Amino acid sequence: MHRPRRTPGTPHRGRGRPARAAVRVRARRRGRGRGRCRRLPALGAGKPGARRLGAGRCAGVGGNGSEAVSDRGDDVSEESNGTAQASAARRAVALIVNGREHVVQVEPRTLLVDAIRDHVGLTGTHIGCDSTSCGACTVLLDDRPVKSCTLFAVQAEGSRLRTVESVGSDDGTLHPLQQAFEDEFAFQCGYCTAGMLMSSLAMYERDDPPDRGEIRRCLVGNLCRCTGYESIVDAVELAVTRRGAADQEAEAR
Ligand code: FES
Ligand code: FES
Repeated sequence: MHRPRRTPGTPHRGRGRPARAAVRVRARRRGRGRGRCRRLPALGAGKPGARRLGAGRCAGVGGNGSEAVSDRGDDVSEESNGTAQASAARRAVALIVNGREHVVQVEPRTLLVDAIRDHVGLTGTHIGCDSTSCGACTVLLDDRPVKSCTLFAVQAEGSRLRTVESVGSDDGTLHPLQQAFEDEFAFQCGYCTAGMLMSSLAMYERDDPPDRGEIRRCLVGNLCRCTGYESIVDAVELAVTRRGAADQEAEAR
């Protein structure tokens, strides 16, 4: 069987670029997701490399994890055939993360998740699949959840990013969502938890509280390998209910 040969000198990361390109093709063949989580207008339209990125009231880029939205997969296959020139030109990109500006030197192809972890130094955002499938890398971009392995760092320039490090207080006080996750035992190994929290936070901060069905739909792009989905949904529902009760109490005063 013919296997495409890697261009000498190009980096070979993870399970291998040709294999990851095949994963992206399979993901595209599975088709686009349906439902409210995919219907918002394009995010990042007009920016280089951006495609129409479906979203909904709850989910942003890569909302249901069914489509690899960056062009990197195409680049990879070209690169593996030895026809593409790898661009190593770095440029300064100003990322606003958790209220602080960080100017990082990245290549145009640097993924947002890599910029956050390797350049900004915030490693709470996890990498699970690196192919827009698992949601472990979810962060908020202008208050919308995005899978940060789906965007290039340059596409996030000028946007307001929030990572899991921004959840909770510096003095150790848990955010109500974190407290609810603890109360409902909504994590086991915890690898998915950062992404689950960020997707949940976008729902939690909305004016109209989501019901259980909507919570499930909005978390559809976040996978838990420990399969603790029921307790995760329970936790988000508990946090939303507590918030509603607190709001009512405040209004009654
Ligand atoms: S979706 Fe980004 S690491 Fe899995
Ligand atoms: S708690 Fe282990 S992957 Fe979700």
